[in-house]
Amino acid sequence: MKKESFVSIADCSKDDIIRLIGKAEYFEQNPNQKLLEGKVCATLFFEPSTRTRLSFETAVNRLGGRIIGFTDAATTSSSKGEILKDTIKMVSNYADLIIMRHHLEGAARYAAEVSTIPIINAGDGANQHPSQTLLDMYSIYKTQGSLENLQITLVGDLKYGRTVHSLISGMSHFNPTFHLVAPEELRIPDIYKQFMESHNIPYYEYCDFSEKVINQSDILYMTRVQRERFTDLMEYEKVKNIYVLNNKMLDTCKENLRILHPLPRVNEIAYDVDDNPKAYYFEQARNGIYARQAIICSVLEIE
Ligand code: CP
Repeated sequence: MKKESFVSIADCSKDDIIRLIGKAEYFEQNPNQKLLEGKVCATLFFEPSTRTRLSFETAVNRLGGRIIGFTDAATTSSSKGEILKDTIKMVSNYADLIIMRHHLEGAARYAAEVSTIPIINAGDGANQHPSQTLLDMYSIYKTQGSLENLQITLVGDLKYGRTVHSLISGMSHFNPTFHLVAPEELRIPDIYKQFMESHNIPYYEYCDFSEKVINQSDILYMTRVQRERFTDLMEYEKVKNIYVLNNKMLDTCKENLRILHPLPRVNEIAYDVDDNPKAYYFEQARNGIYARQAIICSVLEIE
């Protein structure tokens, strides 16, 4: 029987998220397990990736499974015109699990519908990035000691940044307040504002990125302007360097503040911030291995 896919964090209940974070904590303590012995996991990356693909592959390797897949769709038969449905049906014959990144919003949901094996969404266009959200939430939990009642500031490309969209959904169970810092062109889409309103989540929008908003934050979540999503690169040029966090801006921040970023960074965090104890983005990326071990075991129903 087909097991559950992991397509959107919105499909997870509060209990599901807490359970997955508990599993991530377990894998951080016990990283090398043989739970995937005999299993084959396919990584289908139709879009570039460093962290997501390599941390998923590390997770599979540490669990004793094997990997097949591709990192460049141009080397596959999709370049000859094969449709996604046929690719997924083929790979379903070869593997026990598909981990897929695709440029089209909704591609992961569609793949889950046509696949006979579970799909993990490793990012679909500007839509969702649920495994990133789980590692973000694990990082928030580790640094704050709780997920409840936090002041979370999201900065940068809130229009195209799929990690932001997923994080709003995942954190919605934990009574957050969101501070949304974006230029007019990259404001959060209305659908996410409606989501927050319908869940009674307070949110505040800002165009200025100032110490005032930083100083009230527990989590400062920086994001890159997503060049690849712009149809007009002149528009990208206008906003690409709009916000740059530097060390000086952190002088009067809260003691518990931590700076997260899904990475890759382009210009939005100055290098002088890297040595600040508040900077957590490289540890955050390491947490991806444990969170992804938890997700893989969960979709394959391996305890
Ligand atoms: N955070 C993230 O998705 O990074 P990659 O694009 O390198 O996978």
